[in-house]
Amino acid sequence: MSKEDLHSAIKAAGAMDTAMPAIEMVDLCKNFGTFKAVDHLTLTVRQGEIFGLLGPNGSGKTTTINMISGLSMPTSGVVHVLGYDVRRNARAVRQILGAVPQETALYEELTAWANMDFHADLFGIPVREKRERITRILELVQLLDRKNSRVGTFSGGMKRRLALGRALLHEPQLVYLDEPTLGVDVQARRVIWDYILSLRAQGKTVLITTNYLEEAQALCDRLAIIDHGKLIAVDTPDHLKQEYGGSVIEVETAQASASVDEIRRITGVKNVVQEKAHLTITTQGVHNVVPQIINILSQEGELRDLAVREPNLDEIFLRLTGTALRD
Ligand SMILES: Nc1ncnc2c1ncn2[C@@H]1O[C@H](COP(=O)(O)OP(=O)(O)O)[C@@H](O)[C@H]1O
Ligand SMILES: [Mg+2]
Repeated sequence: MSKEDLHSAIKAAGAMDTAMPAIEMVDLCKNFGTFKAVDHLTLTVRQGEIFGLLGPNGSGKTTTINMISGLSMPTSGVVHVLGYDVRRNARAVRQILGAVPQETALYEELTAWANMDFHADLFGIPVREKRERITRILELVQLLDRKNSRVGTFSGGMKRRLALGRALLHEPQLVYLDEPTLGVDVQARRVIWDYILSLRAQGKTVLITTNYLEEAQALCDRLAIIDHGKLIAVDTPDHLKQEYGGSVIEVETAQASASVDEIRRITGVKNVVQEKAHLTITTQGVHNVVPQIINILSQEGELRDLAVREPNLDEIFLRLTGTALRD
């Protein structure tokens, strides 16, 4: 079977069975010596979704992705990509996956065009299609006007976009991006986000890793929160908030309250943070805490403001893992 035949066979197989998971990890482990970088991870990524692996630095995101792409051998457990066992069908998996690794491996001394051309040859893209495809992709990532510039002259955001474009050159069904916006400015981040969303619109499956909560929130249909190589929770961002959230009560008093301990003892209050005359109270479960808080604080003095809001993902992460996502 030629590379092209293989490619279209894989495409056809994937298109026929949309119920088949895009990626399935079962009990996946990776040890470095005695250190457990990935610890019994079981996860399913569905076709057509943007799935996020969210976790702090060192939590095992890159190691996990490297096992999916076949770059790193699992210590135990299995990974299937569209039904293919990554260990046994490395070549098929390479055709299905488009990779945007954490360390962007571009040839700095070559032009943007030459980088794409090299990659096209690597993936056996037919010569008659090459020029048209490279042009289309460079246009998509807004780099066509810089096609003859050396990559070494590009900004971080431009390199990121070029890497993104390159990953799509062989029209993969599944694209993974390891920290796609790490170290790029806000404007470039927007372009990249729009681009990732457009991939889903084209029916592709996208797996991203990130430790930016805004990114996870803005892009992901579902999220897996991982910490120390272990799965902590997996759900949609909204469900994660509902399930683990409780609510957050922000209170402004005239003077710093002396009743913090008393508030902490209210059933349903999880945590109280005091900053001068401002209290941030997190709650858990359904309890009638607001009237009790008002009662305590108004006895003490003037209560200036009270607002109840849903927690942000940062607070949920802290609640689930006991550590902040970013330092
Ligand atoms: N080749 C390696 N040898 C030893 N330890 C490693 C290796 N690769 C990663 N690690 C360790 O495994 C943990 C997870 O790393 P990584 O998957 O890169 O995390 P993340 O991508 O979430 O920041 C880290 O503690 C890291 O130091
Ligand atoms: Mg990483």
